[in-house]
Amino acid sequence: MATTTAPDRAARSGFLLELYRSALGKKYLMAVSGLVWLGYVLAHMIGNLKLYQSPEAFNGYAEFLRRLLYPILPESGTLNLLRLVMITALVVHVVSAYQLTQMNRRARPQRYEGPRDYVVADFAARTMRWTGVIVLLFMAYHLSDFLLGWVNPAPAGATLYEKVVASFSSVPIAAFYLVANVALGFHLFHGVWSLFQSMGWNNRRFNHLRRSLAIGFTAVVVGGNLSFPIAVQLGIIA
Ligand code: HEM
Repeated sequence: MATTTAPDRAARSGFLLELYRSALGKKYLMAVSGLVWLGYVLAHMIGNLKLYQSPEAFNGYAEFLRRLLYPILPESGTLNLLRLVMITALVVHVVSAYQLTQMNRRARPQRYEGPRDYVVADFAARTMRWTGVIVLLFMAYHLSDFLLGWVNPAPAGATLYEKVVASFSSVPIAAFYLVANVALGFHLFHGVWSLFQSMGWNNRRFNHLRRSLAIGFTAVVVGGNLSFPIAVQLGIIA
């Protein structure tokens, strides 16, 4: 049976450290942490479709999440573990993005002269940093709205469903959600596209499939998300 020796282990941890420090390693980290969030935004949108079913179905779903694996784990225990995973993935994603930008700047200290190659770097790719910042600001507001209730316009003691309806009944808040989710759309589209590149799955023959997947995923998540504030404004969710 093969056994690992101390030099083997040292070589492997040296390799991992080297990989972590390299641009490739950081791209992997961005891809994997991005994938965790892709899963979240899809599941979150599907869960929120319960808004169309009934207030009881939607509030019951939120309660179900809090009691996931209860009583094996305490109430909200599973949810808190998931939150830890999500926060870690978000920190890894943002820090790797920052470090990659710094590495690129060091590699090319002078700014581009003349117009950049806008065919290669399309709109979504060029705006990743800004759409990322908009999504982060959106999340800060969103959590203060629905999770913490700090900025939510509903009266104290309102159910989660009532909080969502109260927020989206306000035209400025609904408009903010629409703008933020369009920014999320550009971020997701380029994110799904680059994920394949970072993981090395970028055979030219499959590029059309890759593009269709990026468009399809973005359309489903953003389409669903945009529909909620619009449905409240139209009185479909009330
Ligand atoms: C219009 C679209 C959206 C609606 C209607 C919505 C609705 C909600 C609601 C009602 C909650 C509170 C859940 C609870 O207390 O159980 C929540 C939490 C949350 N939402 Fe959204 N959301 C939307 C879009 C998004 C997007 C685009 C993101 C991420 C980019 C996001 C990230 C989160 C996060 C991280 C939480 C906290 C979950 C937790 O820790 O329990 N949401 N959302």
